[in-house]
Amino acid sequence: MSEGQVQTAFTKRVFSGIQPSGGLTLGNYLGAMKRFAGMQGQGFETIYCMVDLHAITVWQDPENLRRATRELCAGYIASGLNPEDSILFNQSQVPEHTQLAWIFNCVARMGWMQRMTQWKDKAGKNQQNASLGLFAYPALMAADILVYHATHVPVGEDQKQHVELTRDIAAKFNHDFGVDFFPMTEPVIEGTATRVMSLRDGSKKMSKSDPSDMSRINMTDNADAIASKIRKARTDPDALPSEAKGLEDRPEARNLVNIFAALSDTPVDAVLKDVGGKQFSEFKPMLSELAVEKLAPISSEMARLMEAPDEIDAILARGAERARSIAEPVVKRTYEIVGMVR
Ligand code: TYM
Repeated sequence: MSEGQVQTAFTKRVFSGIQPSGGLTLGNYLGAMKRFAGMQGQGFETIYCMVDLHAITVWQDPENLRRATRELCAGYIASGLNPEDSILFNQSQVPEHTQLAWIFNCVARMGWMQRMTQWKDKAGKNQQNASLGLFAYPALMAADILVYHATHVPVGEDQKQHVELTRDIAAKFNHDFGVDFFPMTEPVIEGTATRVMSLRDGSKKMSKSDPSDMSRINMTDNADAIASKIRKARTDPDALPSEAKGLEDRPEARNLVNIFAALSDTPVDAVLKDVGGKQFSEFKPMLSELAVEKLAPISSEMARLMEAPDEIDAILARGAERARSIAEPVVKRTYEIVGMVR
């Protein structure tokens, strides 16, 4: 299938996932969870996963993993996902993901994996000591997406390369076996918050693995913590510009304006029309107030849902059943195509 050629036979279906490795950040919320909820009821089937098998590519304490999986499910629901309208489940309850991942391990090339920037960042200088799972991670991610024949994958910027690899795997599989079985999935990377940056350094992504807690807003931070982190966020000495062009070469200013725009569902230009000319001493309290107003109901709803873990587990089990009903025939057909006697 060549680039640009349109495949029409596939149901419009959204798949995305987040690792339940603890510590959801504002980056996860704006870059993923809020956008997942935005795609619900827009003419897509929506499937959202807690990718616990991806989380264990680096060490996870078993109790923490269980808690983080439930907390992520609570976070999805608190961000606006409805378990009736969307399929919510954890990856390990749907064995078809790993079944298809093995096939893709045999389709993907070592060189493709070696080029992945996330592999290089996460394995660092100590590649020999990284888990084999961390290296094969993108093939499992391709399986997550393609086991549902998903056509659209909303993600933050940092996952774009993995979705492109998913397309390469689909194209090679289709080509090698002479079929048109897997779709060319589109990454959906839209809006002002597809790359939320650290509050301490505008050149680094906001991340739960940053050693400084002041660099990020956690979804569980209270109002005081949010206000203090925004007050201490790094900025430059100039006033805010009135147009987006004025944010070029001002990464910290751009980041705070982008966060404001995403939280208030307002285009950057409209935000700047309002706040252009203001100093950060005036803008930061506005941003804190907005962040608290939007995030506090989510964190309190997460805490409320976490008081009933059995209900969360029932949602995940039901979601897994629904997910399997789509994934099972896809794996069955894949095995036939590959030549497995069934
Ligand atoms: P993960 O768990 O690292 O992040 C989950 C989602 O949050 C987005 N994100 C951000 N967006 C904007 N700014 C930030 N600072 C920021 N930090 C994180 C990520 O882009 C992502 O969308 N490999 C994936 C999980 C995964 C997956 C999938 C995603 C596994 N299988 C299939 C989509 C489809 C990951 O590690 O995301």
